[in-house]
Amino acid sequence: MQARQQKEMPSAAATAEPVIRAAGLTRDYHLGDSIVHALRGIDIEIARGEFVAIMGPSGSGKSTFMNLIGCLDTPTDGRLWIAGEEVEHLSPDDLAHLRNRRIGFVFQQFNLLARTSARDNVEVPLIYAGVPARERHERAHRALAELGLATHERHLPNQLSGGQQQRVAIARALVNSPDILLADEPTGALDTRTGLEILAIFQRLNKAGLTVVLVTHEADIAACADRILRFRDGRLLSDEVNPAPVDAAAELAALPADDEEKEGAPPCVHPQESEPR
Ligand SMILES: Nc1ncnc2c1ncn2[C@@H]1O[C@H](COP(=O)(O)OP(=O)(O)OP(=O)(O)O)[C@@H](O)[C@H]1O
Ligand SMILES: [Mg+2]
Repeated sequence: MQARQQKEMPSAAATAEPVIRAAGLTRDYHLGDSIVHALRGIDIEIARGEFVAIMGPSGSGKSTFMNLIGCLDTPTDGRLWIAGEEVEHLSPDDLAHLRNRRIGFVFQQFNLLARTSARDNVEVPLIYAGVPARERHERAHRALAELGLATHERHLPNQLSGGQQQRVAIARALVNSPDILLADEPTGALDTRTGLEILAIFQRLNKAGLTVVLVTHEADIAACADRILRFRDGRLLSDEVNPAPVDAAAELAALPADDEEKEGAPPCVHPQESEPR
């Protein structure tokens, strides 16, 4: 049986000030003489404290959207507000500050610096934020400890498992205490159990107030979110509240122990097929 989260309201923050607001958000890519319409005018509001999953076929514009709301890219047209500030009106310094302090990004392939210890990877955003060395070490240590990696600070990425590397990446994303965590297929390179561990971390952070926006191809991962957006051909096809989000920690507890888990055991929570890539 699936464990469902006890939430007083599925989208508890639905009436609060939107932390992300997009109007007619458009992104074209020019390739020689042709134009790729990656996003064709997205209108959306995401409230502070929501946990939103984004699904949709490959090429439907999910990563393009994430890169725009993460201020890693600029739209061709349309308007975007992050934490009430219209991005277009920010100076380059203010934009860098917004990106560094308000938004944490987690990627499928972890994107850690290869020859750099876990702690030094987590310190990178603090270096950009101009935090002095001693405070950097302390904050990176705390962020890693909160993700169960206190004893792995000095490990290089290739001395860590995939799940541990993703937890280092999450610690790096959180070390500046952002308002928003953007995760583009964060469990795509992980097995079912490890993926659920990451989801349980996201749900814990979300309960503490962090806004989470996560891209996934897996229906059972999206089932952990409060709200599910579906993209198709650069458009928002549907936007639905999930009335009973799956509780990832409870699902994890219900999984058989590692040594009992059979090869090819079905994924955790949802019976339906994941969508094709
Ligand atoms: N830098 C780029 N230059 C040209 N076209 C691009 C670029 N980035 C993305 N595209 C195109 O924009 C469209 C949307 O791509 P995007 O990466 O947002 O899709 P996606 O939904 O994230 O797909 P996937 O599930 O495979 O990650 C695709 O047609 C893609 O080929
Ligand atoms: Mg993508």
